[in-house]
Amino acid sequence: MKNTDWSQLWLAYHKVSDDGGKWHISFDGFDEKNRVINSLKNEVSLALPKLTGAEITDTGADTELKVIKDSSIAKEGFVVKKMGSTVTIGASDENGALYGMFELLRLITLREVDADFELLSEPDNPLRMMNHWDNMDGSIERGYSGRSFFYVNNEIIVDDRTRDYARFMASIGINGIVINNVNVKQAASYMITDRYFSKLRELSEVFADYGIKMYLSLNFASPIEIGGMDICDPLDEGVISWWKDKCKEVFTELPELGGFLVKADSEGRPGPFTYGRTQADGANMLADIVKEYDKLIIWRCFVYNCTQDWRDKKTDRARAGYDYFKDLDGEYHDNVILQIKNGPMDFQIREPVSPLLGGLTKTNQMLEVQIAQEYTGHQIDLCYLMPMFKEVLEFRTHCQDDKDTVADVISGKAFGNKNCGIAAVINTGNDLNWTGNDLAAANTYGFGRLAFDTTLSSEEIAREWVKLTFALSEDAEDKLVKMLLDSRRIYEKYTCPLGIGWMVTPETHYGPSVDGYEYSRWGTYHRADHLGLGVDRSDKGTGYAQQYYKENAEIYNDPKTCPEELLLFFHHIPYTWKMMDGRTLIQYIYDTHFEGESEAEELAAMWDSLEKEIEPEAFARVKQRFDMQIHNAREWRDQVNSYFFRKSGIADEKGRDIF
Ligand code: GCU
Repeated sequence: MKNTDWSQLWLAYHKVSDDGGKWHISFDGFDEKNRVINSLKNEVSLALPKLTGAEITDTGADTELKVIKDSSIAKEGFVVKKMGSTVTIGASDENGALYGMFELLRLITLREVDADFELLSEPDNPLRMMNHWDNMDGSIERGYSGRSFFYVNNEIIVDDRTRDYARFMASIGINGIVINNVNVKQAASYMITDRYFSKLRELSEVFADYGIKMYLSLNFASPIEIGGMDICDPLDEGVISWWKDKCKEVFTELPELGGFLVKADSEGRPGPFTYGRTQADGANMLADIVKEYDKLIIWRCFVYNCTQDWRDKKTDRARAGYDYFKDLDGEYHDNVILQIKNGPMDFQIREPVSPLLGGLTKTNQMLEVQIAQEYTGHQIDLCYLMPMFKEVLEFRTHCQDDKDTVADVISGKAFGNKNCGIAAVINTGNDLNWTGNDLAAANTYGFGRLAFDTTLSSEEIAREWVKLTFALSEDAEDKLVKMLLDSRRIYEKYTCPLGIGWMVTPETHYGPSVDGYEYSRWGTYHRADHLGLGVDRSDKGTGYAQQYYKENAEIYNDPKTCPEELLLFFHHIPYTWKMMDGRTLIQYIYDTHFEGESEAEELAAMWDSLEKEIEPEAFARVKQRFDMQIHNAREWRDQVNSYFFRKSGIADEKGRDIF
């Protein structure tokens, strides 16, 4: 009873029993010819026989499966109910019915269907999206699982794998997918031309079969790049009229498209700043045009000046998002959503929550996280990210007295928005197992589950994923769940300390380089000298801490009240500073790096102990990655410890070797 088909991820449907009997499926209120309902039927016919040996039949059924329209259930929500030999799935729309079916299949796999039950689930976030950073030449920016499965040599691919991918996404409740990199360059700019319409339509229809809307990343300079114009000023009449014609063409050709994602004025991408216009000018211009087609403009807030000179104590990259976007709160039109990275910097292992989340109160907001492990171990090192995402979602912004968490803000519960939600930069590629490291699929699965139900715990999600993916003894299952749950903490221990961030090899972002920040021409990013390290972001420093509401600003402003895990993000701290447990800062750095490395070795040993229960190929794939993780952890430990030993001249109290 082991997963033998690694191409099927958590939908391998390994057998749980042989007593499925005969099932009859009926629909009430749903059109059986509807494309999503059709996918539902296909999935259940595939899964039930595999899971339980059940046969789908028209007569003489042992189990009646009724799929019933029920308008009392929220959009995309569902009820799954079992009473005796009748199983009912209720939903007010097709997506809800499909999600209900996947829930039923999940419960069967988890062996949770013996007794009668009733389960209601309604999605917390209206939009639950995956963002691909796939390029049309087939490469993937920050991809660690092979090449793109959407593009080969500037052509779009639609095949069985595309359909499998859509199934996986629907099974975890994803309803929007951006198929191309936010850095829209070369051929990708031509995706909104007739060169690609027919393939894009085919792709969008595969997604539509699973209730998923396809989105495209847009090049803001398209009027120049593909339109032959001289400018792309969002307030220029000629530019506006070009976009009107273009959108008419695009949405006539691609009616299933959900809209566009835009990265503007950042890291070399074009945008409204060139013309002295604001981000709102740029976003609203496009939004007004696509509104007619009922489409969305998702506008990223990852806007900063990567050439800035931070020797000036007030200059701070972390401030940029808030500085550029906050003053325009209320100006963004209804079909604009601002997509905000979880932290103010860039997907580091530890950052405070972006002050824009909840800082904006009159604007649609989407949270952007990254399950591609760019700064968190490249899907070589184990780093299960749900604990980090939970912290972000549960963070109280204090934007109002209650309903003020990030989860409240992005779900629309705080301010009543309809266009909002959560997106992840995805970690997939064309490797057979989709995610390179088999264990990285826990993040793919987990993100979707959490996006749908933000109340699920990291452990619940990890356990579900382990059970669906592997067939392990209880003991082995517990071990693997524990490995996942500990992994982020371990990675954090052996990499950059206490929220300082970076210290990674520039450009690749894997492995240590303590002074290595790609925009380092103004000195080291972490501000370490012989007395201490960290960036002063208090009111005496860059003032970043003041971007939060008072309650948080006060806590962050003072090193004595600042959460310790963020101490070096907010403050420049002497090596002799006493941590809460009495250790000095420098000793804390030494200790955590020694511990992190040895805990990485323990993770590897735990994996070894599972050998008998895991199939050889998967076992070997993951084992090879743990070997690399140990090597990485040693490099980090040694480079960080020796760097700070040399800077501070303070020896390790425990007398360990620091190379
Ligand atoms: C990071 C990442 C880039 C990416 C950028 C973004 O800086 O390294 O590859 O393009 O984020 O989010 O736009």
